[in-house]
Amino acid sequence: MTGTVYVLNGPNLNLLGLREPEIYGHDTLDDIAGRMEDRAKELGLEIDLRQSNHEGHLIDWMHEAQAHDAKAIILNAGAFTHTSLALYDAARSIRTPVIEVHLSNPAAREEYRHHSYVGMAAKGTITGFGALSYMLALEAAARL
Ligand code: DQA
Repeated sequence: MTGTVYVLNGPNLNLLGLREPEIYGHDTLDDIAGRMEDRAKELGLEIDLRQSNHEGHLIDWMHEAQAHDAKAIILNAGAFTHTSLALYDAARSIRTPVIEVHLSNPAAREEYRHHSYVGMAAKGTITGFGALSYMLALEAAARL
């Protein structure tokens, strides 16, 4: 196994910092990436952070993570979390553990955000702590 943790981000997360900051905070994805890189170094890990608005890219990257023997995948699938049977299948199809993260707490929001396909196949889920959710997921990944 390598020390690489894939950090995969789905639709609209490229707009973090600008997008509904009262819900998702003011940090950009680059801010989060920088902090994760620093912490990953301390933990003896590397992160590979990517974002796509396309479901198939996320699936291809999950397959790639397994092919590269990644330590874990931290996945914020955005709205695909709640709709994508294909992401559920992808998470179940690989041995690489998937840690689901969300900035907001979907369980405390609209009912259509309560169901998570990703969560059904994830090793665990961290939600509601804003950018800190990603850092907590990295701590969890380091201990897998
Ligand atoms: C989100 C929560 C989802 O419900 C939403 O569609 C997002 C962001 C979060 O990180 O809080 O795009 O995944």
